[in-house]
Amino acid sequence: MSRRAIYPGSFDPLTKGHLDLIERASRLFDEVIVALLINPSKQPFFTVEERVALLQEVLPPRYPNVVIETFSGLLVDYARQRQAQAIIRGLRSAADYEYELPMVLMNRQLHQEVETVFLVASQHYTHISSSLVKEVFKLGGTIDALVPEAVSRRMKEKITQQAKQNQ
Ligand code: PNS
Repeated sequence: MSRRAIYPGSFDPLTKGHLDLIERASRLFDEVIVALLINPSKQPFFTVEERVALLQEVLPPRYPNVVIETFSGLLVDYARQRQAQAIIRGLRSAADYEYELPMVLMNRQLHQEVETVFLVASQHYTHISSSLVKEVFKLGGTIDALVPEAVSRRMKEKITQQAKQNQ
């Protein structure tokens, strides 16, 4: 039986930590769906379309069994609809575990057939989060070691565009 996992997230922006987890998940499962949450209540740095475009630019040639999709609503409904056996989440710290545990248990209560699988990224990436990347970037710090080259380039382009529009 073919094993399918969903790796859900906001990916705003995609980081090297995310990429590391996608690679690990792609070795464990026959198919991995990188599922970008459409969340109208959040004010993102990149639009959904920009994040999908970046995922498409960075992922496909390296990971043939990884597909990119978007979803809205409950993750478990999406997992059921896509007949996925597992949800992948990354764990960087005890704080992540505290945040993730209620979600795992809630998801299990809502849909007992789906298991959450925690993966740990390389120790080089465990301090990276999308929110820290955005903060460092907005305050003028270098993010090249934290995100794929395409993401860093696109963040710089976007800020330059916004500065021009505000002139
Ligand atoms: O990368 P993120 O932003 O930490 O990902 C959070 C995500 C997408 C996994 C979580 O917000 C989610 O599952 N949202 C979908 C809505 C849902 O199912 N909520 C109930 C969770 S118990």
